[in-house]
Amino acid sequence: PRRIILDCDPGHDDAIALLLAAGSPEVELVAVTTVAGNQTLDKVTRNALAVGTIAGLVGVPFAAGADRPLVREQVVAPEYHGESGLDGPELPEPTIALDPRHAVDVIVETVMAAEPGTITLVPTGALTNLALAVRREPRIAERVREVVWMGGAAAGGNYSPVAEYNAAIDPEAAQIVLDAGCPVVMVGLDLTHQALADQAVLDAIASVPGRPASFTLELLEFFRGTYRDQGFEWPPVHDACAVAYVVDPGCMTVRRAPIAVELHGELTTGQTVVDLRHAAPEGCTTSVALGLDAPRMWAHVVDALTRLA
Ligand code: BDR
Ligand code: CA
Repeated sequence: PRRIILDCDPGHDDAIALLLAAGSPEVELVAVTTVAGNQTLDKVTRNALAVGTIAGLVGVPFAAGADRPLVREQVVAPEYHGESGLDGPELPEPTIALDPRHAVDVIVETVMAAEPGTITLVPTGALTNLALAVRREPRIAERVREVVWMGGAAAGGNYSPVAEYNAAIDPEAAQIVLDAGCPVVMVGLDLTHQALADQAVLDAIASVPGRPASFTLELLEFFRGTYRDQGFEWPPVHDACAVAYVVDPGCMTVRRAPIAVELHGELTTGQTVVDLRHAAPEGCTTSVALGLDAPRMWAHVVDALTRLA
């Protein structure tokens, strides 16, 4: 299995990403780290521990990381995820204890202790922790297998007309990670807006027994409501797509292309500028995910929830 660190800010779609990772034999979750984003660090960390408890994870370290972006003020997203960051289902009292280490230390120590090329980082929030880790120990960039990030977009935005939320809330961090020199796959809105939890998906999940599946349905019910307010009939489950790429890269089409982040725009800060005009130049380490086989991805989610039941 591919060994991953999930760096997240749960978040309804982060929670489903965590369940997908926990229930997929193709991946081994070696750590879960949290970062401020959808809600404050305290809230998203508590949520991560609760979701890990529902997944029945044991022996996987959970560690809290940065409580704000590198440079800018924190922006939370209650209009999508509610005041708790995970409104909707009742959360269990976590049975997982928080690791006392800082998330950045967990990331650096895990990558440096593992064989080179064996750890994949899967951030599903702002890239604050990863940027700090790269600065703290630059050698991790040569040692990770790849970074698979839910964030950004080649076209469009959700935080603004041109910027995706995870990129927009900490654009300096995103730029540091995209420039780090390790392979980075950007699983952005171009891809994740194809991963809609529509009626067929809800029906498939409803047929799975057990709390992980019923919890996922309750998450999706709440998420559907907030996304309806944003003009979507069905909610896009962004973060699960990043994990799905690691589980089964063949369910997506990915294209190598230079990516830069707008840091000084008056209207466009946080935009990920993806150059798709030509074939990627030699040595380009960034890629963008563009096409999704959605039924194939959702089958992995259903399988994972079935295994966790
Ligand atoms: C991203 O923003 C967050 O609200 C979601 O969890 C996801 O990571 C989508 O733009
Ligand atoms: Ca997220």
